[in-house]
Amino acid sequence: MKVYVLRLGHRFSRDKRLTTHVALTSRAFGADELLLDCKDLRISNSVERIVKNWGGRFKVSFLKNWQSYVRSFKGDVIHLSMYGLNVNNVIDRIRSSNKDKLIIIGGKKVPSEVYKMADYNIAVGHQPHSEVAALSVFLDRIFSGDELDAEHAGGKRIVPQEHGKKVVN
Ligand SMILES: C[S@@+](CC[C@H](N)C(=O)[O-])C[C@H]1O[C@@H](n2cnc3c(N)ncnc32)[C@H](O)[C@@H]1O
Repeated sequence: MKVYVLRLGHRFSRDKRLTTHVALTSRAFGADELLLDCKDLRISNSVERIVKNWGGRFKVSFLKNWQSYVRSFKGDVIHLSMYGLNVNNVIDRIRSSNKDKLIIIGGKKVPSEVYKMADYNIAVGHQPHSEVAALSVFLDRIFSGDELDAEHAGGKRIVPQEHGKKVVN
């Protein structure tokens, strides 16, 4: 199963740091690719540097037409929104399918059509918080925490220490 994250509403002038965090969170919590609805090479360049150092095959892509990408996606389209169904009540159903997943997260305001395009509108609790928080909790639920033990081939590896830092190449 492949997991894709589509981040809508990236604003070139304001969101570089936040969208980079969306990318790093997607990668670290088991997703395969981040898709953006706006071309911003600063994001893909900084993620490429992380992948070069820390391994794996995660990538960032830019969509010219995100609506047609979503419509033709073969798998489950899951939109994270505080207005959706509580993740606690639907995660078992979502996990029971091996289909690829497209997880949509918003920025300031998500176009209302997204609610209809999604197979699932899922809330990570019904309080407003952040796309990074919603995404990390949701991915962790999908993978049941196993993603935290994953090795990212070809990268540096941390040897966990009670105190201090140890990294091997
Ligand atoms: C700054 S929030 C926007 C909050 C906005 N009121 C909304 O429509 O959800 C940006 C994104 O974070 C995600 N998000 C925030 N709170 C969430 C929650 N409780 N559950 C799921 N996703 C959430 C959604 O993907 C949302 O589009």
